[in-house]
Amino acid sequence: MRVGIVGSGRIGSALGRLLVSGGYEVLFSAASPGSAEAAASAAGGGARSGSPMEAARFGEVVAIAVGWEAFPEVAEEIGGALSGKVVIDPSNPIAERDGRTLVLAVPDGLTSPQYQQRVLGQDIRLVRTFNTKFSHELLELGTAGQRGGPRADMPYWGDDDAKKSVVPLIEDAGFTAIDGGGLAEAL
Ligand SMILES: NC(=O)c1ccc[n+]([C@@H]2O[C@H](COP(=O)([O-])OP(=O)(O)OC[C@H]3O[C@@H](n4cnc5c(N)ncnc54)[C@H](OP(=O)(O)O)[C@@H]3O)[C@@H](O)[C@H]2O)c1
Repeated sequence: MRVGIVGSGRIGSALGRLLVSGGYEVLFSAASPGSAEAAASAAGGGARSGSPMEAARFGEVVAIAVGWEAFPEVAEEIGGALSGKVVIDPSNPIAERDGRTLVLAVPDGLTSPQYQQRVLGQDIRLVRTFNTKFSHELLELGTAGQRGGPRADMPYWGDDDAKKSVVPLIEDAGFTAIDGGGLAEAL
């Protein structure tokens, strides 16, 4: 399966690396080409890099691993190419400003992924997952699971069959997939 990664920072590079190890074709992208190239090089296994639009078109599944507040920008840049696709959203409503970590209020009484679904477009098939571990833990735990060690749980939330299609990807990344319910119940 082909996976496009939009955002090749801490989470995007760790997730993409696990997916390459799990046998997936991965194309990394970021705001700047250098981060995507570095993530592809670190992942090895024929991983590629390109622009966010190339990642959106390449992926049968696309992960949007950018800061929570960058989603409107991503929607404007590549939203059309995500139409109908399964989109993994690992974002948390947290921002870092002036060296401080802030928890942001999600508008309109929505859960965070319900809001990101609204931002990206109702015709994308959003699944919230890979947001519950720090990036270094994600890589360590996933790698251990892929090597036959004990598997950590990885919850996922979604509103349609999209979430079922993400289960093999979570398992191939080295985790035990745990159905957390719909987006209304998501962390
Ligand atoms: N870090 C963690 O441990 C952790 C854990 C759980 C969940 N999360 C969530 O995962 C998401 C990413 O966090 P992170 O820590 O990985 O952030 P990060 O290290 O700051 O990486 C963010 C990435 O997004 C890219 N980016 C920013 N704007 C973009 C745009 N318009 N189009 C394409 N790429 C864009 C950046 O590109 P450049 O590299 O070119 O700047 C960078 O590669 C956040 O929503 C966070 O809440 C993070």
